[in-house]
Amino acid sequence: MIESVVDLGHVARNGASPTKLPVVCVQGLGFVGSAMAIAVADARDARGEPCFSVVGVDLPTPDGRAKVDAIAAGRLPVAANDGALRAALAAAVERGNLVATTDAAAYALASVTIVDLPLDVVLDDGRPTVRLEGFRAAIRTLGSAMPPGSLVIVETTVPPGTTEKVVAPELAHALAERGLPADAIGIAYSYERVMPGASYLESIVAIPRSFAGHTPAAADACEAFLSQVIDVQAHPLSRLPSTTACELAKVLENSYRATTIAFMEEWGRFAEAVGIDLFDVIAAIRRRPSHSNMRRPGFGVGGYCLTKDPLLGAVAARELHELPDLEFPFSSLAVSVNRAMPLVSLRKVEALLPHGLAGATIALMGVSYREDVADTRQSPSQAFVTEARACGATVVCHDPLVRHWVELAIDVHGEPPPLAGVDAVVFAIPHKAYRELDVERWLGDERPVVLDSSDVLSPGQRAALARLGCTVASIGRGERG
Ligand SMILES: NC(=O)c1ccc[n+]([C@@H]2O[C@H](COP(=O)([O-])OP(=O)(O)OC[C@H]3O[C@@H](n4cnc5c(N)ncnc54)[C@H](O)[C@@H]3O)[C@@H](O)[C@H]2O)c1
Repeated sequence: MIESVVDLGHVARNGASPTKLPVVCVQGLGFVGSAMAIAVADARDARGEPCFSVVGVDLPTPDGRAKVDAIAAGRLPVAANDGALRAALAAAVERGNLVATTDAAAYALASVTIVDLPLDVVLDDGRPTVRLEGFRAAIRTLGSAMPPGSLVIVETTVPPGTTEKVVAPELAHALAERGLPADAIGIAYSYERVMPGASYLESIVAIPRSFAGHTPAAADACEAFLSQVIDVQAHPLSRLPSTTACELAKVLENSYRATTIAFMEEWGRFAEAVGIDLFDVIAAIRRRPSHSNMRRPGFGVGGYCLTKDPLLGAVAARELHELPDLEFPFSSLAVSVNRAMPLVSLRKVEALLPHGLAGATIALMGVSYREDVADTRQSPSQAFVTEARACGATVVCHDPLVRHWVELAIDVHGEPPPLAGVDAVVFAIPHKAYRELDVERWLGDERPVVLDSSDVLSPGQRAALARLGCTVASIGRGERG
């Protein structure tokens, strides 16, 4: 019995009766699923009572079990620095309306299951593709267990067309094996814009959302559910006409962002070469309302999404819609430009060091993929460190939010490292802590080359470094102090 597995009744405390509430399962307890599970458990009705009992489900692998154990202990299973998310998790576990399990039988209890599975883009003979076997199997698991009348909401970022051409047939197949019609379980698609930083929880519940249903009834059910979890008064939902349109919205949104970031790289190089401060120029352009969110040059693009999502358009065209001639050249160029961007910083450091990279020591400031988040997945710093090491350099890493860098299996300094013997300092990620750094005190008697790769340093910090006699260079800024 599932009750004995997830022990929903036993965890109810303080007079709350989470077992009487509709059960929402979250399939996949990673960066998106764990935070979504907490957000759903935190949802309240007009009387301030919890709306749902939430069961987070992950795989019975060491990693999946570790995530389940973390939630049971009231700990976030992913790297995060949002006190509100941590507090909401602790409160939900204490209340008893959030539990986690590796037992897929939990889906039999679900009124709603939210699908937060990963879907990596991999290269097959040089061409991007996705391996759908695991995703298909996970969807079939839902079809084999979820009760008639329930709803599946897919949040995984997928090649547009996947809900219609993969999810719906897999569910229908599993339902048919139970003697149930294809529409016994509703299907909807809605994507997250979650940002695992200081406003992690807010980035789920206080942000505009798009959704769509495989059928009008499923769209209605999805809208009703999201309206209980998200602050739809402040952030009205956008209903899109089809799940493919909604999937496309996610992929286009991230492709647009990745492409506009990549686009700035060539202008940054030009500005550096001709002695122009591109940040001043962009600030002036941004005053034009239609260009107010123009991107800026920087160290690179990382994270799980922007590094792969722009490739999903071409995957969808070729593999789901028989449109092999639609190749999405801007999007794929953006991915390769962004991937190579950290190496532009490395080459700049190399040019500034009198003896090049071999034997040099570099202090790298920032290893997470963006400012004020602790997530290191696909961090541009990883490419920088890997290539710097390959060129014979030693890299000492600092990050205010990361103590252990999982992908490189190294410990990271939590305090600015001592600079004795350091030839170059690279400010890679604009963490707030760096803007507050007393550079003069930190440097002491040392005079390393300093590269500001992401407009991290203030004019005052740059001027102090120049006054001390350091060589200071920037990505996107032609003037040298
Ligand atoms: N900031 C973000 O990371 C972000 C933002 C928006 C959307 N997305 C998208 O959301 C999706 C999930 O991303 P993520 O960052 O949470 O991935 P993740 O890798 O952190 O987590 C995925 C989890 O799913 C689990 N899992 C895999 N197969 C399973 C199965 N069959 N049953 C149960 N659990 C299973 C994995 O063990 C893992 O814990 C991706 O499509 C991603 O592109 C991510």
